[in-house]
Amino acid sequence: MNLTTTYLGFTLPHPFIPGASPLADNLDTVRRMEDSGAPMIMLRSLFEEQIVGEQLATYHAAETMANVFGEATSFLADPPDAVFGPEQYLEHIRKIRSAVRVPVVASLNGRTRGGWLDYAKLIEQAGANALELNVYDIATDGERSAADIEQETIHMVREIKGAIALPLAVKLSPFYTSFANFARQLDEAGADAIVIFNRFYQTDIDIEELEPVTALHLSDSSEVLLRLRWLAILFDRIRADLAVTGGVHDAIGAVKALMCGATTVQMVSALLQRGPRHLFKVAASVSEWMDEHGYESLEQLRGSMSLKNCPDPSAFERANYMQTLYSWRDERP
Ligand SMILES: Cc1cc2nc3c(=O)[nH]c(=O)nc-3n(C[C@H](O)[C@H](O)[C@H](O)COP(=O)(O)O)c2cc1C
Repeated sequence: MNLTTTYLGFTLPHPFIPGASPLADNLDTVRRMEDSGAPMIMLRSLFEEQIVGEQLATYHAAETMANVFGEATSFLADPPDAVFGPEQYLEHIRKIRSAVRVPVVASLNGRTRGGWLDYAKLIEQAGANALELNVYDIATDGERSAADIEQETIHMVREIKGAIALPLAVKLSPFYTSFANFARQLDEAGADAIVIFNRFYQTDIDIEELEPVTALHLSDSSEVLLRLRWLAILFDRIRADLAVTGGVHDAIGAVKALMCGATTVQMVSALLQRGPRHLFKVAASVSEWMDEHGYESLEQLRGSMSLKNCPDPSAFERANYMQTLYSWRDERP
């Protein structure tokens, strides 16, 4: 089965990509990912706070990372060393570029316009082949409207697109009032891909110690459902590619994401749990599944369950809400 796909202007042998994560911190792991068929290498994000010299974002705290890795420590760098400063980050791009043949995607995380965005240019000069802008904002300021927040991001995209020639993907959370409209505006601003969705790392509280508790839990496959809906809604409605991130762990999840319209499928939790070779297994299983089910090409599969092509598009829309609530039956004896 030919799974060749085009993402951010690159022709890739298949659409399955290791997403932004510590997996690319270590050059040996990067080579192992390439050997396992990774068609792109994506670096973790360099944070606005790192660039402007403030504290690191909470989900990069070393102790949090230690909780996550568990058995994955065999193929990851030691968490405390893995947090790159801005200069190390650029150096790491150079090292990865000389270690692999596949395109290398860097990532900038932030939420505001400002001098830190100049790093996009440095990232380009360091040799990255593309950039992902990872927008993670928690709108706690009651003075900022939804439109203000969206405009800030749109300006960031325009600013970066004006400053560099690299293809730009924009990774977003699902928490926008009118996501379809926002995605369209980003598309018009020049985003080459929309990556849906960043996971929302929620803070718990410790009721004895009276402290907030932050921990990073890896995803499970139920998280893909929110993504499927928005892939299905956006498919063929914007020019930008659609990448999915969040909750794809196996071939079934990957097939669903492609059917709803994903151009590429990013995976992180599954690779942290099972190692980089899992990517190869997913690609092989999707290919096998498509053969068994009579699909002749990826194009035939892609978007076949989108709002545009799905036999029952209302399932993704409001009509489904009432039906779902009414479909519940009390099955207790
Ligand atoms: C340990 C860890 C570190 C991550 N670091 C980043 C990061 O630096 N930048 C980013 O955009 N996403 C980061 N992510 C989020 C992943 O790229 C991905 O969007 C998320 O884990 C959902 O995909 P999954 O369900 O396949 O894990 C990180 C995820 C994990 C688990």
